[in-house]
Amino acid sequence: MAISTLALLFIAFAAALGACDPSTCTFTHSPNATSQNYPGSPSLNTTAIYPYNISALSDVPIATICTSPTGNRTAELACARTYIDAIDEQLAFLYARRLGYAAVAGASKFATNTSLNDPSRNDVVAAGMAAKVLKYGATEAAGKVMGGEGCMIYAALEYEVETIQQDCDSTFTVDVERVCD
Ligand SMILES: *[C@@H]1O[C@H](CO)[C@@H](O)[C@H](O)[C@H]1NC(C)=O
Ligand SMILES: *[C@@H]1O[C@H](CO)[C@@H](O)[C@H](O)[C@H]1NC(C)=O
Ligand SMILES: *[C@@H]1O[C@H](CO)[C@@H](O)[C@H](O)[C@H]1NC(C)=O
Ligand SMILES: *[C@@H]1O[C@H](CO)[C@@H](O)[C@H](O)[C@H]1NC(C)=O
Ligand SMILES: *[C@@H]1O[C@H](CO)[C@@H](O)[C@H](O)[C@H]1NC(C)=O
Repeated sequence: MAISTLALLFIAFAAALGACDPSTCTFTHSPNATSQNYPGSPSLNTTAIYPYNISALSDVPIATICTSPTGNRTAELACARTYIDAIDEQLAFLYARRLGYAAVAGASKFATNTSLNDPSRNDVVAAGMAAKVLKYGATEAAGKVMGGEGCMIYAALEYEVETIQQDCDSTFTVDVERVCD
């Protein structure tokens, strides 16, 4: 009896704050995040024409494919932009998927009253991305930016906060300080 009264009091208190019990907080994904909604998916009915099969990472060519044998710089620029547009489609998809997992991590940290921002984890992510980008053919410095040394980690943290506000607690705030603007 005492416990259920306490529980009711807690629920009333939480409702008054516009909050649910943090331990029940789970991430609700956008209706746009579906297994059929991926780059090149036939279900998108897109008329866009890509220079390679954007459903398959192994089909992404190496950039020298755009080097003009006759040294036609206009043709090279146009070619590069076509591939950049296709790769952006893939990056956008992977980024949205990645943000979904960031939001799951955010809800988990919120549910266990753990700080969303973990600078040691952020450093690990940036260093890991730097190594991966280097491995695939660009530089560590550019990879670090992709991994969070620039803005990406802050954008993800803000997304975690927004999804917690939507799914769990409209009053939840974290001061995500961007050091990258
Ligand atoms: C889903 O994608 C469409 C098309 O880009 C967009 O207009 C819409 O706002 C998205 N819906 C949500 C809930 O994000
Ligand atoms: C694609 O076309 C099919 C058949 O016309 C339709 O059922 C589906 O909703 C369309 N998908 C999108 C994303 O517009
Ligand atoms: C593109 O790649 C996907 C994934 O490997 C494959 O399922 C699909 O059949 C390919 N499409 C074409 C047109 O080759
Ligand atoms: C260079 O490429 C552009 C774009 O493909 C083309 O319009 C132009 O005629 C080319 N110039 C020469 C000198 O071949
Ligand atoms: C959550 O953590 C904060 C900071 O460590 C602490 O002040 C607070 O009491 C904790 N709340 C709960 C419900 O454990």
